Amino acid sequence: MTTRTATPAVPPPGAPPPGAPPPSLTIAAALRAAVAALRQPAGARSPGSDSPRLDAEILLAKVLQLPRSALIARAEMPLSNAVHAEFTDLIARRAGGTPVAYLTGEREFWSLPLAVTPDVLVPRPETELLVELALGLLPIAAPRRVLDLGTGSGAIALAIAIERPQAEITATDLSAAALTVAMQNARRFGASRLRWRLGSWFDALEAERFDLIVANPPYIAAGDPALPTLASEPLSALSPGPTGLEAFTSIVGRAAAYLAAEGRILLEHGDAQAAALGALFERQGFLDIRSHDDASGRPRAVSATRPRNPPQPEFTNQ
Ligand SMILES: C[S@@+](CC[C@H](N)C(=O)[O-])C[C@H]1O[C@@H](n2cnc3c(N)ncnc32)[C@H](O)[C@@H]1O
Repeated sequence: MTTRTATPAVPPPGAPPPGAPPPSLTIAAALRAAVAALRQPAGARSPGSDSPRLDAEILLAKVLQLPRSALIARAEMPLSNAVHAEFTDLIARRAGGTPVAYLTGEREFWSLPLAVTPDVLVPRPETELLVELALGLLPIAAPRRVLDLGTGSGAIALAIAIERPQAEITATDLSAAALTVAMQNARRFGASRLRWRLGSWFDALEAERFDLIVANPPYIAAGDPALPTLASEPLSALSPGPTGLEAFTSIVGRAAAYLAAEGRILLEHGDAQAAALGALFERQGFLDIRSHDDASGRPRAVSATRPRNPPQPEFTNQ
């Protein structure tokens, strides 16, 4: 009778020995996998991302607490399991439509790294046009009074405060949670001279007048097909109602009473709203109504000067 003894299996060259943990993914491989996960095929149910590589790099740099540029130099560095798990979770949330800014807690606006939370709109680069136009109306050394209606993260008010330290800026919002974020950002940048007011448009104010009113109010019509793709952001920051013009109507209808003589108002608007907004200003007797284009030539803001004989103020807080 012959006895057969089992020969231990010899692993092929290069394979990990039996029982060893699986080899770690490198930075390069993790980024490749993340880009594939974020680049959704047409018709996929989750929105994915239209900048998958950039998003993946920002999120991995955040998890590793490294600058984005370091990812290239360290492409072959293996990731620990904990880092890989955290990164995979962030990528899944991004693929589900959560903005990168909510995942990192930060968004740069006018070169300011602003803290953002889901209580505020993620500041958009196109809103920098409003800051540019506002700065053009504010002489450097003059203590002009500026009002930012619907300040959200504080983006516009803080950019102006940094560029025009002499300006007296009041910023309002209907959302107390948004104002908390804005005030946190002000502390971050040492901008201590701003006043913060809670309430609906001009109801947040006392009997006061401003040299400049700026606002990027909600302006997306309730039925707009783009709205569901922005579902992570507060609806109250995006859509004012069925037509998309409701906030403009409220603001333009009362702005004259809050503007100083020669005072100007500057409002951001959506594609195709320039004519409707211009008509609102005209109906209220505003002067020198101008439309302003962004860098790609699309009209994105309207400015106007207070009417000569403005209606009597209705200061509700008096
Ligand atoms: C489009 S977001 C703009 C946020 C910020 N100014 C920016 O440009 O990133 C509109 C802001 O208006 C605020 N808002 C909406 N309705 C308001 C109202 N009736 N009165 C005051 N603020 C309002 C929202 O809470 C939101 O912060």
